[in-house]
This record gives sequence, structure tokens and C-alpha cells, in this order.
Amino acid sequence: MSERKREGEGLEQAAGLDMGTRLEERDERAGADAETVDEAIFSLSGVGVTYSGAQAVEDVSFGLATNEITAFIGPSGCGKSTLIRCLNRMNDLIPGAEVEGEVLYHDQDLYDPKIDPVQVRKRIGMVFQKPNPFPKSIYDNIAFGPKVLGVKDDMDETVERALRRASLWDEVKDRLKSNAFGMSGGQQQRLCIARALAVSPDVILMDEPCSALDPISTGRIEDLMLELKQSYSIVIVTHNMHQAARVSDRTAFFTVDLRAGESQRVGKLVEFAPTEQIFTSPRDRRTEEYVTGKFG
Ligand SMILES: Nc1ncnc2c1ncn2[C@@H]1O[C@H](COP(=O)(O)OP(=O)(O)OP(=O)(O)O)[C@@H](O)[C@H]1O
Ligand SMILES: [Mg+2]
Repeated sequence: MSERKREGEGLEQAAGLDMGTRLEERDERAGADAETVDEAIFSLSGVGVTYSGAQAVEDVSFGLATNEITAFIGPSGCGKSTLIRCLNRMNDLIPGAEVEGEVLYHDQDLYDPKIDPVQVRKRIGMVFQKPNPFPKSIYDNIAFGPKVLGVKDDMDETVERALRRASLWDEVKDRLKSNAFGMSGGQQQRLCIARALAVSPDVILMDEPCSALDPISTGRIEDLMLELKQSYSIVIVTHNMHQAARVSDRTAFFTVDLRAGESQRVGKLVEFAPTEQIFTSPRDRRTEEYVTGKFG
């Protein structure tokens, strides 16, 4: 068996932890502080990122819960995109970026040298701010990932299932062979979500997925997220407070610490709590100022 296959299986096994183990863990965690969650899909401990030695984010510790939507909010430059990229090893692709601390995914160290980053990105999909379909047909956009991964299922079924899950099937079923660039922005973003779903991920990371969309397309993506969280765990970065309040179960608020006479800007986690608490009774004054629009 090839090394790559074995590593991938380690991750598959980790993703398939049996329910008995999780329930025992839940008992042990009862009474833990607000920054841990039951059934964590990710647990971050002392996570930081440097770019060519300059600290961009520092000392982030919290857990993200399975089948929930977790929102990352905070002012520009506080490290939301940097941190979300730690969750599927996308920072590996950025020259000069180094990740510190520990990121556990289903209790497995995501940065263990035995883990294959390609398998990680298969299980943990990502959707970006600007819809980025490939210059191919709608069908080929969806079929691309499963083909590369050598998935043996019937491709027509795989494509249809992914498009249905992304609530796009009815709009595109008669034009599957047309170029994806002929779709509206909102449709292109749902196509990118369908493309992420086609490889059967476990987690979907979304970095400002609606910032280029009109309110109607935004509403459709939000509805879709609420539907998808039954089967997937979702992380969303957003500048839209209403969106964070509408869709997320828990929210992490980050800020920028100015150091060395303001020449150094370091992102920090200020508060992580159920979304309702963040928006109605935050513990930290900085969170309150940000969510009420007094700052940021
Ligand atoms: N590829 C990179 N190379 C060097 N520095 C980077 C890189 N990406 C981000 N940074 C720096 O890391 C810090 C955090 O940036 P990041 O993009 O994660 O913030 P953000 O919270 O997503 O901001 P925004 O809300 O504007 O998207 C910033 O100081 C930024 O300049
Ligand atoms: Mg960003």
C-alpha cells in the first residue's frame, strides 16, 4: 500500500470516530470553560501564524463544534483569513507562512508530518470571496474534483447530487454543458459550493462567500448554509454582522493588537461564545463596541 493511501486512511478513520468515544468525551468536557465545545471537529490550542517571521495572528485557542456554523468576525487585518486557512492547511501554499501551536481535527494533529495535505483539503473544502469557477462547463466544474481523486461512482449522479445539494440543479439542469462563466455571480458561488460538496467533504470553510453578491443571492447562500449544516460543519468569515447573527451558532471575535509603537499589528482572539451571547451580552467591551458598530 502506498504511503499516501495509508496517511489518507488515518484521516478517514479519524473522521469516522465512533459515537461512543464522542459521548464519553462529552461527559469529561462538561463544565469546561466557554471556549471548548462538545463534539469539537477542530480544537485549536496556542495557534499562531507568522509571515516571513512577522506575527500575523497569535495564541488562538478554542474549539469548533460539529454540525454547527462558526462565524469569524473582526476588523480588517485581524487574521480571519489567515486563521481559516490553518484549518485546511492552505497556509502551506503561501510562501513564508508558518503555523505555530496545535490544530486538532477529530482529535488528530492536522500538522502531523504523516498527514497528507491533499487528503486534508479533500475532507475540508473551501469557498472563497470571489466565485472562482474553472473556465469549463458547469458539469466539468463539478466532475473535476471527483475525477482527480479517482472516484469510481457514476459521474452523472455525482454531478446531479452536488448541484441538488447546492440548490442549483433546477436552474442549470438544461445547460450542464454551458460554460460556467455564463452564470450569474450568485449561481457561480453556489456552483463553487457544489464543487466543494462533490468530493464529499466533512467541513466547508467559507471566506466572505457573499461579499460579492446581491442581497437575494446572499439570502440563498445563507439558506443553503443552514440546510448544509445538518450534514457538514461550516466555518464562515464575514464582515456582515447581520449575516453572522442570522446563520451562525457560535462566533469568534478577533481584533488587532498594535505593538511596537503601532508598527506591528497582531491578530488576537478576544471572545468566542454562542452567537446570541456575542450579540446581546458579550463579556468583553471590545466585542460590544465592534458588534454595535462603535469600532472597526
Ligand atoms: N500572504 C501574506 N503574506 C504576508 N502577510 C500576509 C499575507 N496574508 C495576510 N498577511 C498579513 O496577515 C495579517 C492578517 O491578514 P488576514 O488577511 O488574515 O486578515 P483578515 O482578518 O482576513 O482581513 P480582511 O477582513 O481584510 O480580509 C495582515 O497584517 C496581513 O497583512
Ligand atoms: Mg480576509
